[in-house]
Amino acid sequence: MPDHRSLIDQRIAAWAKALPSDGLYAPMAYLMGLPAKRIRPLLVLMACELFGGKPEDALDEALGIELFHNFTLMHDDIMDAAPLRRGQPTVHAKWNVNTAILSGDAMLVKAYQLMARRPAVAAIFSEHALGVCEGQQLDMDFEQREHVSVADYREMIRLKTAVLVSGALRIGATIAGAATDDVRLIGAFGEHLGLAFQLRDDLLDAFGDPTKTGKQQGGDLLAGKKTFLLIRGLELSAEQGRDALPAELAKPSARRDVPRMLAELETLGVRHEAERAVQREEQQAAASLDAIAVDEARKASLRTLSAQLMGRSY
Ligand code: IPE
Ligand code: IPE
Ligand code: MG
Ligand code: MG
Ligand code: MG
Repeated sequence: MPDHRSLIDQRIAAWAKALPSDGLYAPMAYLMGLPAKRIRPLLVLMACELFGGKPEDALDEALGIELFHNFTLMHDDIMDAAPLRRGQPTVHAKWNVNTAILSGDAMLVKAYQLMARRPAVAAIFSEHALGVCEGQQLDMDFEQREHVSVADYREMIRLKTAVLVSGALRIGATIAGAATDDVRLIGAFGEHLGLAFQLRDDLLDAFGDPTKTGKQQGGDLLAGKKTFLLIRGLELSAEQGRDALPAELAKPSARRDVPRMLAELETLGVRHEAERAVQREEQQAAASLDAIAVDEARKASLRTLSAQLMGRSY
């Protein structure tokens, strides 16, 4: 039997091949064709299998989730003024902003077409997709807001990232016909996994190797994003009377000294604190998976994927 990853790769390749090559569809094929982890479609297939379904039965929805994710990235990169995605120019940089808006919109429609086969799946998908928009709005609001707490941040990343991870798992479980309680439990696992995932993403944005992440290093600091790192960094700077971080933030984005900001976050111990926060979420994710009453052998692929995400460098 082909493994989950090759099933997804084949489905995406077939989808891309059937697309017209005009100005609306070329950016979709471009973004979908860049190297990516495909976490969300993998989770759809794995959750389906966990509860006794065949991964092949969930392939349309797996593609639908990945299309939705790529739509959010196309628009997120406009919102974050990001030059690079997956090691290549972002769609709005390669084409232009209007193209990225419209091609992203069309991708969202295509995602919905794939999610509409089963009403129960479409309902979960709509609920989670709206959560992503709510989280993205909070993400932007927080850039301008002076006081953002760690609790505010956690709710923001729960919405913008964790709900889609959780949604992918709930959708896979629903396709397999899992019981309501099991759908809830796998959703809880996804939420912790997704929180750990975004905390790690924020760490990688600051301290990761840009040749691996494929993104601009320190992009979040340049944008003044209220990540865990910046929130705790500012709190500790105020407590300890240190002014490097606030002084850099007071400068216009393009003149900020990113290496100085990174050194300060390290000195304040914030990097270490964020690493521990990731580990706490990962432990809670593992405990949620433990609580699901299916054969341990069936959980193996989800455990392997979780372990890969824990050590990820991109
Ligand atoms: C990036 O998602 C956006 C976040 C929610 C952090 P991924 O890190 O899954 O990106 P790809 O799809 O592998 O490129
Ligand atoms: C992205 O968060 C969340 C969504 C796309 C919904 P980020 O803005 O941190 O994602 P990256 O770092 O650009 O991939
Ligand atoms: Mg971004
Ligand atoms: Mg963003
Ligand atoms: Mg990021």
